[in-house]
Amino acid sequence: MPNVVYILNGPNLNLLGKREPEIYGHHTLDDVRDLCVAMADDHGLQIVFRQTNAEHELIDWIQEAREEAQAIIINPAAYSHTSVAILDALNTCTCPVIEVHVSNIHARESFRHHSYVSHRADAVIAGCGVEGYLLALKRISTLLQGT
Ligand code: DQA
Repeated sequence: MPNVVYILNGPNLNLLGKREPEIYGHHTLDDVRDLCVAMADDHGLQIVFRQTNAEHELIDWIQEAREEAQAIIINPAAYSHTSVAILDALNTCTCPVIEVHVSNIHARESFRHHSYVSHRADAVIAGCGVEGYLLALKRISTLLQGT
């Protein structure tokens, strides 16, 4: 059975490629999914790739991943900076968790500098553009090889 990685995306990431391209670049979320599928195939991983604008849905998916996934990659988008509920959901998971941000949140407005999710994340990747998702998958592959 291949290891399953949930890649979860929060609000407004459905507009990736259209939204503030000077900050987030020109790749769409479909591009990101395709890149992740290709890399996952290379590494013998199976991915579940989802996006929602709703906080409760992200929480439901994290709870699902708790049962179904061997690792979680999450870009909680704006909820990173506001959601104790998403942190609490991730805290129920024992698998590796990697937080990804397309932009460098630390070089932006001060309200983006703190992420609740970072309290749980095993690694945080910010400012690498959409390549950050692939770096996260690479790291997950390394971590899961030891299991
Ligand atoms: C983001 C950074 C967040 O601050 C912002 O709210 C987003 C996207 C990123 O990927 O750079 O929506 O998570």
